[in-house]
Amino acid sequence: MEHLIDIKNVSKIYNPGENEVRALDNVSLQVDEGEYVSIVGQSGSGKSTLMNILGCLDIPSSGRYILNGTGIGSMPDDALSEIRNKTIGFIFQGFNLVSNLSALENVELPLLYRRMGREERQAIALDALHRVGLSERVDHLPSQMSGGQQQRVAIARAIAARPPIILADEPTGNLDSRSGETVMEILRELHAEGKTVILITHDNAIADSVDRTIRILDGRIVEDRTRELAG
Ligand SMILES: Nc1ncnc2c1ncn2[C@@H]1O[C@H](COP(=O)(O)OP(=O)(O)OP(=O)(O)O)[C@@H](O)[C@H]1O
Ligand SMILES: [Mg+2]
Repeated sequence: MEHLIDIKNVSKIYNPGENEVRALDNVSLQVDEGEYVSIVGQSGSGKSTLMNILGCLDIPSSGRYILNGTGIGSMPDDALSEIRNKTIGFIFQGFNLVSNLSALENVELPLLYRRMGREERQAIALDALHRVGLSERVDHLPSQMSGGQQQRVAIARAIAARPPIILADEPTGNLDSRSGETVMEILRELHAEGKTVILITHDNAIADSVDRTIRILDGRIVEDRTRELAG
């Protein structure tokens, strides 16, 4: 069976030469459609590096990556951005919203990159904002919203284009526990709808609440555990 995500012997070396950092060391990993995977490991272990490679924001120094049947790596930048835009929705710890754009405009951005017309774009963006409970906030700037609301805008932006894969790097890291729970609830719903979700977290309770947990240490996968969830 073909895996949705299939990386083999991937290494990532920053600053090759004397001060090189081997952020990923010969990592192989397969993720199938519809999985919910958490990635844990101490600070500096290589989690974000792995996520950036999975999300085609960065390319491996060596090894190969097949995403949805397509070999990534020998691909020109614009082709890579197009695959990224269609396949992957990102959610970051720091929200990464554009500060001078409203919630609605932020969510429209990835659709704009797809050259979608204004009306369709707005309808889809409004729908996504409704989905995360922010219909009342569409005209607000990021600075006029709470952290939890900003993260929900970021989720709306990630899901508006309906990518099959959601990559979330510490999405609750800057949130109070209640807002964090809301974000986790939305991610659970997206997974229940069939999306493949990959979540980086420091929080063991969150990591343990999903089907599969991968532990990284010094750029290597040291544990890959799938659990039977009750209920
Ligand atoms: N652009 C870069 N240039 C040089 N070194 C880098 C770069 N990005 C990351 N590193 C190094 O690679 C290693 C892995 O970093 P990474 O950001 O993947 O860790 P992480 O597990 O996400 O940590 P955290 O939990 O703190 O976010 C670290 O030693 C880091 O200092
Ligand atoms: Mg990180």
